Amino acid sequence: MDSMSFILFGSTGDLAKRKIYPALYNLFLDHSMPESFSVIGLGRRNWSNEEFQRNVEDAIQTFSRTPVDEDAMDLFLQSFRYHSLDVTDSQGYEQLYQFVRQREAELNLSENRMFYLSVSPKLFDVINSNLKQSGLIDTAGWKRLIIEKPFGHDLETARELNKKISTVFDEKEIYRIDHYLGKPMVQNIEALEHSNPVLQALWNKEYIANMQITASEIVGVEERAGYYDKVGAIRDMVQNHILQLLMMTAMHLPYEINAENVRREKKKVMESLRPLTKDDVNQDVVRGQYGPGIINDEHIQGYTDEEGIESSSRNDTFIAARLRIDNDFWKGVPFYIRTGKRMEEKSTRIVIEFKSPHRQRAEYEELAPNLLIIEISPNKGVTLQLNSKNSLNNGKLEPVHINFSRDQKDLPEAYELLIADAIRGDQTYFAHWDEVELSWKWVQPILEVFEEDNAPLHLYESGSMGPKASDQLINEQGFHWW
Ligand code: BG6
Repeated sequence: MDSMSFILFGSTGDLAKRKIYPALYNLFLDHSMPESFSVIGLGRRNWSNEEFQRNVEDAIQTFSRTPVDEDAMDLFLQSFRYHSLDVTDSQGYEQLYQFVRQREAELNLSENRMFYLSVSPKLFDVINSNLKQSGLIDTAGWKRLIIEKPFGHDLETARELNKKISTVFDEKEIYRIDHYLGKPMVQNIEALEHSNPVLQALWNKEYIANMQITASEIVGVEERAGYYDKVGAIRDMVQNHILQLLMMTAMHLPYEINAENVRREKKKVMESLRPLTKDDVNQDVVRGQYGPGIINDEHIQGYTDEEGIESSSRNDTFIAARLRIDNDFWKGVPFYIRTGKRMEEKSTRIVIEFKSPHRQRAEYEELAPNLLIIEISPNKGVTLQLNSKNSLNNGKLEPVHINFSRDQKDLPEAYELLIADAIRGDQTYFAHWDEVELSWKWVQPILEVFEEDNAPLHLYESGSMGPKASDQLINEQGFHWW
């Protein structure tokens, strides 16, 4: 693996602590970090290297999935240095440049530079142009940019941002993080299909009645009122995570799994996704907002009573929608998605409901459909629901489940897999610009209808599975949510 500098903007932030440091540490333990590397943490605070290293260690103690090994930790932290930088000050980048080069010389590193933007999106632009001017990106080795969501606020701002970034980094150098693509079970979808001819044969409109993607959360807006009230579930979850899950499930399997092929097939899914007009939004999309309720015996306040949220807020904390993919594979198969905060359970899963041709026969009328359930988080596993005769119950046909699940602790975290890929230069599980643009394009009419407040806002009880209207949406075709 190439030696490199890992230059982290936002090194004192929450994401760095919760995800990035534990990921780097576990990669280090797994020997998935290069033999020599330098991590340069950037932030406004005036920290010493020791303070920085102590903070990194604390974060790993708190958030790492594996226990800390003191010897390994000492060795690991030797690569960490802190550099104070006001990201808006172009002169600061000159010093940063010198510092990066100094560390490269000390550690005898090749000039491979990974720039990780774990900062507010407001700063993407200024960092980008300062990087360009500073010389940091004129390197004899590779340069890569890892960038967090949100990538834009709508179609237009996403395009502007991409245009600017593209003047500094080539598409092949940009790693747009969607952490859902790093979840092991999401990466397992294509493997499941690829390695099981039984599933592969059935993965199309002939055998599938509908597909359902659910990402429900128990948490509410938490301490992110300022951010969340401007974005809502549509931007926070649907435009990125949910549409990525849709692409991963609906793409036609390439013969060989690599970044180019996977991204081409995902793009085709988005190109075939039937666009919504603003008039369609009210038929195919349900907008919801949580009201008060009870979760785990605790009384929960409604969204508009949350700190930092205006009592008049019409923001969406729940979205359900019906989508159609107009290609040969999926014509006629409805795809249902739903996601929301303050729901009954934390669960991200994909359920594939198979057609039940026998149900026309009277004796099979009650038969449960075959289901393939892919549990993504917090449980990770796959269940196949079949029917079988129960001789203990008068030979009645009853659903049975074949399943496997994985122990959470053994599995790498999404950030581990994604950072490892970026270090190796593998873009398969990062969002290509085409996907991001097409996703924004698809959600754009919904954003506009919500902006104009031209869609009902259904209140739902905290602790429920969303508003009744989302059940009606799926009942219209004779299905229900699983
Ligand atoms: C983030 C959203 O991208 O994903 C959060 O901003 C959401 O609002 C989170 O809670 C959900 O991620 P996960 O991995 O817990 O399903």
